[in-house]
Amino acid sequence: MQYRSGQEIREAFIGFWQEKGSHHYPSFSLLPDDPSLLFTIAGMVPFKAYYLGIRTPEYPHAVTCQKCVRTNDIENVGRTARHHTFFEMLGNFAWGAYFKKEAITWAWEFLTERVGLDPSRLYASIYEEDEEARSVWNGDVGLSEDRILRFGQKDNYWFMGDTGPCGPCSEIYYDRGERYGCGSPTCSVGCDCDRYMEIWNLVFTQFDLQKDGSLLPLPHKNIDTGMGLERLTSIVQEVDTDYETNLFMPLINHTCRKAGIRYGDGGRPDMAVRVIADHVRSVAFMLADGVLPANDGPGYVLRRLLRRAVRYGRLLGFEGTFLREYLPILLGIMSDPYRELLDQRLTIERIFEVEEDRFQKTLQQGTELLEAETRRLKDAGRTQIPGDVVFTLYDTYGFPPELTLEMAEEEGLTVDHEGFGSAMEEQRTRAREFSKQKRSSLAGDVYTEVENERGRTAFVGYEVCAGTGRVLALLTKEGRADRVEGPAEFEVVLDCTPFYAERGGEVGDTGRMLSGGSVLEVLDTVPHAGLIVHKVRMDQGTLSVGDEVGTEVDDARRGAIRRNHTATHLLHEALGRVLGGHVRQAGSLVTDRILRFDFTHHEPMTDEQIAEVERLVNGQVLANVPLTVRECGREQARELGAKALFDEKYGEVVRVVSVPGFSVELCGGLHVKATGDIGCFKILREESVGSGTRRILATTGLNVLDILQHLFGLRTHLTALLSTDEEGLAVKAQGLVDELHRLQRRLQEAKLRDLTKNIESFFERRDIDGVLLQTGKFSSVAPDMLREIGDRVKERTGQPTVVVLVDVGEDESCKIVVMADDDAVRRGAHAGNLVKEASALLGGRGGGRPNTAQGGGRDAAKLNEALDRVEALLRTQLKAQ
Ligand code: ALA
Repeated sequence: MQYRSGQEIREAFIGFWQEKGSHHYPSFSLLPDDPSLLFTIAGMVPFKAYYLGIRTPEYPHAVTCQKCVRTNDIENVGRTARHHTFFEMLGNFAWGAYFKKEAITWAWEFLTERVGLDPSRLYASIYEEDEEARSVWNGDVGLSEDRILRFGQKDNYWFMGDTGPCGPCSEIYYDRGERYGCGSPTCSVGCDCDRYMEIWNLVFTQFDLQKDGSLLPLPHKNIDTGMGLERLTSIVQEVDTDYETNLFMPLINHTCRKAGIRYGDGGRPDMAVRVIADHVRSVAFMLADGVLPANDGPGYVLRRLLRRAVRYGRLLGFEGTFLREYLPILLGIMSDPYRELLDQRLTIERIFEVEEDRFQKTLQQGTELLEAETRRLKDAGRTQIPGDVVFTLYDTYGFPPELTLEMAEEEGLTVDHEGFGSAMEEQRTRAREFSKQKRSSLAGDVYTEVENERGRTAFVGYEVCAGTGRVLALLTKEGRADRVEGPAEFEVVLDCTPFYAERGGEVGDTGRMLSGGSVLEVLDTVPHAGLIVHKVRMDQGTLSVGDEVGTEVDDARRGAIRRNHTATHLLHEALGRVLGGHVRQAGSLVTDRILRFDFTHHEPMTDEQIAEVERLVNGQVLANVPLTVRECGREQARELGAKALFDEKYGEVVRVVSVPGFSVELCGGLHVKATGDIGCFKILREESVGSGTRRILATTGLNVLDILQHLFGLRTHLTALLSTDEEGLAVKAQGLVDELHRLQRRLQEAKLRDLTKNIESFFERRDIDGVLLQTGKFSSVAPDMLREIGDRVKERTGQPTVVVLVDVGEDESCKIVVMADDDAVRRGAHAGNLVKEASALLGGRGGGRPNTAQGGGRDAAKLNEALDRVEALLRTQLKAQ
């Protein structure tokens, strides 16, 4: 077989289907427009609505090489050489255009004539009842009956998920020869070993799986196929596994060079090499598609993979942050055709750094906690780390259980695997419940039904704010209704509407609908697939399906929304210019009152940067530049330099909103006619929202005036209160703060004098093996004062002494200071370790040197327990000496 690179195979596949008349779509985002999935898991996902018949395809058949992420088996990735989290799926799709005969014969043609696979090594499996597929394989392709295998639903039926498009499938297998076989006499197609490789799945998508398990026929007979590029490449390049293809080897070579090992020697190092190669790909592609590290959803998967890669790096002895080293290598392999990797290079690099750094700290923190726990167990004479401790370390601190296990082994302890397993299982059940709830509230079957029956709502509101529409459907809490009587709150779907439905962070319109004599208040407008749904309140009268209604959007509110939205575009561009090209939108909210803009940036903005951004935006406002809006193809929009949004939906036609000379963005929202309409722009706040992401709150137009008026009112109030003028405010306020500090200090001194007069009465004394342990309890005394008291008490005893001072604050928090004199330290006392343990019990942290240490926690209720612990530990310390 002729050698070809992964890139060449990708191109050959796309070219082949283009010759067959298929339209080529570049890969869609890894984030699907589908609440039932976290990631795009197959090539067909972006086309789901075409399969269901909800939307009419732009082209009758298509081809893609789609970026996919599957996360159902993360723990196995690296362990075997076959699993990946990120992979590319080659796929051809047809919606009523061609069916089994073409799909099968063309697939055969591609594999045998274009790729050059030996036909005598190919096998096909079919769904056992699929006579049609059998006859194509046998009659049209000429594959002999003994090489057509029949399997049941488990193997030869493909489902997208719990619901959605599905159908029987036919899979093509390649026999890699006996060398790869398991040696079993029954080894044949379908065996789990590495000999018969399943390379291409042809799905005949004919049904829509319902929640109750029933299969509804789809409007068309469709084709959906999927072939892993990595696997096909491994066959063409005649290597044992996907990891040895040119799609992975440069990444693997880097790891090997860095770790000084050879790939293929087996064991844990090989696994680490594969984990890093796979996870670097997934994480980089997720970041390029706008996923950011988070504690749930896609961002959590990203964080988990990144951490797993870092951990395996540590196993190979890598120190410090290292993931960014892989980025240039990955770009070399993948930036053509995945340009988003190049565009987002700086963001990817930065987030690699920040997250890795954070994780190193987590590891540090986890190690400390585990050490304290280990000591506690040992002191108590126990030898097993309880499962819930391993789970808490993992779940709360992100500390990997494998590491807990390793460290436990070093300390001669075991781990309660069963307990950990059941804690994990409980967590998984909770997560499943959560995602079920999330799904069912979003499923919106009734909306799909309305859309299938009545078609989509036409939006006519970019230019106008009023019009008429006909009622297509009425939805109440009970379901669809033909007629609703007031007073009632319900939902209305019209054939056309000027009301903008909440989307892309912009809130929905409010306003009124007029029908006969009744007035309906529109409280909100939301989208459901192709429908625009008005949430309304009707105090009296009736409304029926088929009625014509007048529509009136609240114009003043919408004006304010338009101003904030256009200002968001100006802000986005200005941030890029002031902070650098790595700035990328991570979310936004546009209402009539404020605009909120989240973006990738690793540190707080300085006051100067904020002022500069405000100047740039207001400069555009004053220039009063007319906006241009045009619809064009996605590629053309890219050429115009349009900033793409993360939730870029499929569909070739996109809407490009430009402020000529300044900003170009893909956007479906509402905007002002010219920038001057914004009036004025002001940033109100800049803050952090998690690692590597900042948030700006800002506003425009009359809202800025409202704020100015409020601030002026505040100024008048303060100048009157402090009897000064505006210039004098700061000096006067500083004077008051200084005075307050002076008084607080004097109060503390007076308290100290008072305390030291009968200091002895605050302390309990106990002799611990010849060392005097003095424990004093105070309330609301500053830590430096505690130390002063400690010094005084320590000096007076004339024998080895350890002083423990605790202070309970008004907020129930606890401070603890421990001091040991030189004699006590010589006898083995260690103040730092005493504080560390006591603080951990109090739910906080602390530590220090052998002679003096401090710490504390929030849980004052555990105080006595913590003090008992100190006493017990001191006893152990003295004994150990
Ligand atoms: N959608 C099918 C699969 O993922 C082709 O296998």
